[in-house]
Amino acid sequence: MEKHHVKPMISEKDVNRRIQELGEQISKDYAGKTIRLICVLKGGSFFMCELAKRISCDVTLDFMSVSSYGGDTKSSGVVKIVKDLDESIKGKDVLVVEDIVDSGRTLSYLLSMLNDRQPASLKLCTLLDKPERRVVDVKVDYTGFEIPDAFVVGYGLDYDQIYRNLPFIGEVVFD
Ligand code: IMP
Repeated sequence: MEKHHVKPMISEKDVNRRIQELGEQISKDYAGKTIRLICVLKGGSFFMCELAKRISCDVTLDFMSVSSYGGDTKSSGVVKIVKDLDESIKGKDVLVVEDIVDSGRTLSYLLSMLNDRQPASLKLCTLLDKPERRVVDVKVDYTGFEIPDAFVVGYGLDYDQIYRNLPFIGEVVFD
C-alpha cells in the first residue's frame, strides 16, 4: 500500500445530520408504503443502517454485492454480481442504497438489471456523489453530499478494504 494519510472531509456530525434529513424526506415521499431497501455491499452497509433507523415507514432489507474495483482506486469497468438478492422485488417499492456514485458504471448496470425484475418503483439513494467523474448517466434520486474528485474513505468506504469503520468521511492523500 502506498504511503498516505487520511484528511477529514465531512465530519461525523455533518454526516449524521444529513442522513437525518434524507430519512425525513424519504419518509415523506414513501408515506404509507413499505420500502424495500437494497444495500449494495460492502460500502453501503453503514449508510443503510443509519438511514433505515431514520425512516418512519415500514422497511424491509435485502443485500447484494457487485464489484467493479479490485484493490485499486481506479475503475476497471468490469461489473460482476458477487451476491444476488435473496427475495424477489416484483411489485415492490425499491430504494437502492449506495455509498458513492463515481463513474456511474456500477449503478447503471445494477439499476437496469433490477428494473428488468419489474419493481413497482425503483429509486437510488447515495451518501456521496462525484458528478465530475461520471462516465455513464445515472439518475440519483437522493444524494447526501456532492464531493469533488477525490478518493474518499470512511462510513463504509474503503481503501484496499481498510477504513470502512471510520465514523466520518476522509480523503486519502498520498504522501
Ligand atoms: P462507479 O461504478 O465508478 O460509480 O463506482 C462505484 C463504486 O466504486 C462504489 O460503490 C465504491 O465501491 C467504489 N468507489 C468509487 N469511488 C470511491 C472512493 O472515492 N472511495 C472508495 N470507493 C470508491
